Amino acid sequence: MSATAEGNRGFFVHQFELGPMDNFIYLVGDRTTRECAVVDPAWNFEVILEEAARLEVEIRHLLCTHSHFDHVNEVETLLEYTDSQVHMLAPEIDFSGFRCENLVHHSAGDVLEIGADCRITFMHTPGHTPGSTCYWVNDRIVTGDTLFVNGCGRCDFVGGDPETMHATLWSLVKELPGETIVFPGHNYGESPSSTLDAELKTNRWLALPTLREFVEHRMEGRQAGTVLPAPAWPPAQGRPGRPTSIR
Ligand SMILES: [Fe+2]
Repeated sequence: MSATAEGNRGFFVHQFELGPMDNFIYLVGDRTTRECAVVDPAWNFEVILEEAARLEVEIRHLLCTHSHFDHVNEVETLLEYTDSQVHMLAPEIDFSGFRCENLVHHSAGDVLEIGADCRITFMHTPGHTPGSTCYWVNDRIVTGDTLFVNGCGRCDFVGGDPETMHATLWSLVKELPGETIVFPGHNYGESPSSTLDAELKTNRWLALPTLREFVEHRMEGRQAGTVLPAPAWPPAQGRPGRPTSIR
């Protein structure tokens, strides 16, 4: 269930998979102060707390790439167990109406520093939702439902926009260093992480030569304005049925 992606400097990015929708959750923090953020706190707060305890780090921040339930559905519970600030881009808060205690409204370009060595930049990467965020952490980027390994987020859900997604994806691969490591919001690819260079070469959505083809393929068989249905969780018994794919 767990894969560790530790940097060799003073920060860490720890990835683990959780829940019925192949979500990746991340602990991102500073090795010296042992403080960290949870990126996309969802599905099982006990496992998230156990991972933090196992790494001997303290959760001080909850970072949301966007407001969909599979990225935020343990925010409230984790606020009961940790002394944390919750971070989301203002356009996503405005779009979704998301509210909780200790909510910090952010703008693109904001920086959250954890300790001396973990510097997290908030990037506005709309397309999947109007206020989707990628978190740029030194030489890594946590991409939520914007960029997957050989994939990208759906653009037909309420607030999604395929033309905007196309612009977002190309700005990521053109403007950030190619060796930047990509940590996606779901385990949908052949590997749990990638690089921007590798995605530029192999991602099927970046292989489409025109915006028109991207929009046509991304929306094929989809209806703009689709509501993302939340699965019953926790399951009454056994494993839940497989909910809607957000691939
Ligand atoms: Fe999503």
